Amino acid sequence: MKWIKTQNYGEMSRLVAQLFIKQLKDNRNTVLGFATGSTPIGLYEELVKNYNENIISFSGALSFNLDEYIGLARSNEFSYYYYMYKHLFSHIDMKESNIHIPSGDLSFIERSSAAYKQLIEVAGGIDILLLGIGINGHIGFNEPGTCFNSNTHVVELETSTRKANKIHFDNQENVPTHAITMGIASILKAKKIVLLVSGQSKQAAIDFLRTGEVTEQFPASALHLHEDVTIIYTDVK
Ligand code: PGA
Repeated sequence: MKWIKTQNYGEMSRLVAQLFIKQLKDNRNTVLGFATGSTPIGLYEELVKNYNENIISFSGALSFNLDEYIGLARSNEFSYYYYMYKHLFSHIDMKESNIHIPSGDLSFIERSSAAYKQLIEVAGGIDILLLGIGINGHIGFNEPGTCFNSNTHVVELETSTRKANKIHFDNQENVPTHAITMGIASILKAKKIVLLVSGQSKQAAIDFLRTGEVTEQFPASALHLHEDVTIIYTDVK
């Protein structure tokens, strides 16, 4: 596990952007894994800037997102589908058919969980996967206690996660109770993993990760089982 501390959020975002830019330059048909939340917004700004300056193109790339809330339509401004188009996909040249975001539509959730795993396999696996971390150590929406063998599945969100994510919603009641997420086993299959961490609220999670203890009670600790993980962090938001 490689740890890189940056001076601030801007430096963190530029650094992770360089990893994605290199990946796109090395292989134009690369498979990218994306995350949502507050932390990656700076990365997406950097990628859009580099695309606008003709430094990178996404025309041959594929993408898989980590997770989605259950029960929010794609057009809902709080859905991760909406987020990804707002911050990235509307501004770049990735083909719509190459963009994959788990569907939070309850009516075919069973089918979509299995299909998601298969789609990633057919694409040849994820070359570089971006992760954030929750204050409880979740990665994707894999809450504490999630089995390390899990593939894409439905989860009930912890109260702490729903509280933390309230900032993205108009009020607490509207934060969904469930989500669909790539499982820990699916995450560990990515060839390269980059975990972004920003802000003091994540300090306890980072401290635990540094102990090296591996436990299903702290999902991010599964990353110790992977051989190519880079953690880029800053305590300055
Ligand atoms: P954040 O979310 O980037 O909004 O802090 C990260 C996460 O909960 O995985």
